[in-house]
Amino acid sequence: MNSSTITLHAPAKSKTQGRLDFFQMISGVLLILFLWAHMLLVSSVIISPSLMNAIAWFFEATYMAQVGGPLIGILIFAHFLLAARKMPWKVSESDAFIKHSIMMKHRDTWMWLAQVATALIILIMASIHMWVVLTDLPITAVKSAARIQHGGWLLFYLILLPIAETHVGIGFYRIGVKYGVITKENRAWYKRKEYALMGGFIFIGLITLVRFMYLPLHSGM
Ligand code: HEM
Repeated sequence: MNSSTITLHAPAKSKTQGRLDFFQMISGVLLILFLWAHMLLVSSVIISPSLMNAIAWFFEATYMAQVGGPLIGILIFAHFLLAARKMPWKVSESDAFIKHSIMMKHRDTWMWLAQVATALIILIMASIHMWVVLTDLPITAVKSAARIQHGGWLLFYLILLPIAETHVGIGFYRIGVKYGVITKENRAWYKRKEYALMGGFIFIGLITLVRFMYLPLHSGM
């Protein structure tokens, strides 16, 4: 393959590929909704640690954490496998892809490369994060705060937070482009909204981390 046959590694168009694309989109949308809900639920600690504890208690009493947690893990893996069909795995493929991106000076093409890179990082970091949280139930504000204050998790979350939000933001935008909601005419408007949404969630995540950093660990919460 060379720069002029860059897309040849991508599977040819067929009904099966179309269906797989559709499942990739559905799994992506579900994960976007999950992450937004997750950020809002964890950020309840900003209002009050008792509120976060009550929400966590509800999710565990109804087994949503115990069952839903592993299901989210499976969904992440399935979404990754569906997207991996189109990733340029061979060195020659990624070389040609980068050459084309530079040549075309096309931001959306670069965005797709950012999607691939962030996907690989999220796959590893989200798995570690979910394993640590779900094997140490119940979730409480003080336990989370202890992890962030003394467990070395602050840096981990400071990396995962922007990477996850960037992946979600680009993914949301790309679904809109792919399914025709975002067009040439309204693209700039959607991009602005998307940046605002990404920035908003990163901001909420950062405030949540600051709250955990300063939460007294002996409050009995
Ligand atoms: C069902 C699965 C999950 C559960 C139960 C869960 C739970 C939690 C909890 C309790 C915290 C507070 C910090 C701590 O306790 O260490 C947290 C923080 C965080 N989680 Fe998750 N999480 C899950 C999945 C994910 C996934 C899939 C991602 C990203 C792709 C993610 C990204 C983050 C980030 C970035 C933080 C830092 C806090 C913030 O900035 O608001 N989590 N999560």
